[in-house]
Amino acid sequence: MKTLFTIKNKVAIITGGSRGIGAMIARGFVENGARVYITARTEETCAATAAALSQYGECIAIPADLSTLEGIGEFVKAFSAREEKLDILVNNAGFMKPRQEFSELSDAIEHFGESDWDRTMDINLKALFFLTQQLLPALKQGAQFDAPARVINIASNAGMIPPHRHTDYAYTSSKGGVINLTRHLAMSLADAHITVNTLSPGLFATEMSKEIIEQRGDVFAQSIPLGRLGRAEDIASAAIYLASPGGAWLTGVNLPVDGGNVVKR
Ligand SMILES: NC(=O)c1ccc[n+]([C@@H]2O[C@H](COP(=O)([O-])OP(=O)(O)OC[C@H]3O[C@@H](n4cnc5c(N)ncnc54)[C@H](OP(=O)(O)O)[C@@H]3O)[C@@H](O)[C@H]2O)c1
Repeated sequence: MKTLFTIKNKVAIITGGSRGIGAMIARGFVENGARVYITARTEETCAATAAALSQYGECIAIPADLSTLEGIGEFVKAFSAREEKLDILVNNAGFMKPRQEFSELSDAIEHFGESDWDRTMDINLKALFFLTQQLLPALKQGAQFDAPARVINIASNAGMIPPHRHTDYAYTSSKGGVINLTRHLAMSLADAHITVNTLSPGLFATEMSKEIIEQRGDVFAQSIPLGRLGRAEDIASAAIYLASPGGAWLTGVNLPVDGGNVVKR
């Protein structure tokens, strides 16, 4: 029972691990003894986060743009040159169009453009599928009947309930897609001893949520049943649970990590 939540010596990839929720999970994994690969487009941020987390254990940066199949291929090639097997894949990298890019006029369904749709879908949903597909050989190497390999997909409360903002058509669709794609993949990969689960965060203070927090952070925090925003340890511990021996018999699950927000709404 004492090793129920250990991930020591496991090999993990965390996409979008350079900052925000990905970096929160990365720190939790590194501090608990996993060898963690983080990836993001911006080389400097990726390298700086890997260097900062290396004081707690092993963290390696492999920068890549995962919104294209070419970028995914380059990342998988670089990872495979270093590791034969993969125990845990956290598909976290994501995009939401910043509010300040909408004018009063464009804050309407008629003005939601194809480029916004494609940019959001490419990283939030398409990348998740094709990265998982390309990493299957490594995940299968790490998978055993009693110790399955893990895929953890980061969706959002916005994939479960309509958001307050009326501009995020692609974001909500992509996150709803992540939750259902997770269920589909869970059934496809169970025979290969790979579990696939979703974490659906509520509001966490990150670059993505910066302007919401600046403008209405207090109001949001008060509206959450448990009275506060998410903290690094809230999301890191949920990811560690799904990645650990204790989470071995869950697949296809969507776990909101949101202080009760979805239940209230
Ligand atoms: N913050 C919240 O309150 C909240 C709530 C619910 C769900 N989420 C979800 O949690 C995840 C992380 O969000 P966050 O708030 O931490 O966002 P964030 O601070 O904006 O971080 C996003 C991360 O993804 C990387 N990324 C973006 N586009 C990429 C691409 N094309 N290829 C590779 N990496 C890319 C970014 O690095 P580069 O820009 O350098 O590429 C960064 O590391 C997202 O899926 C988001 O939808 C967040």
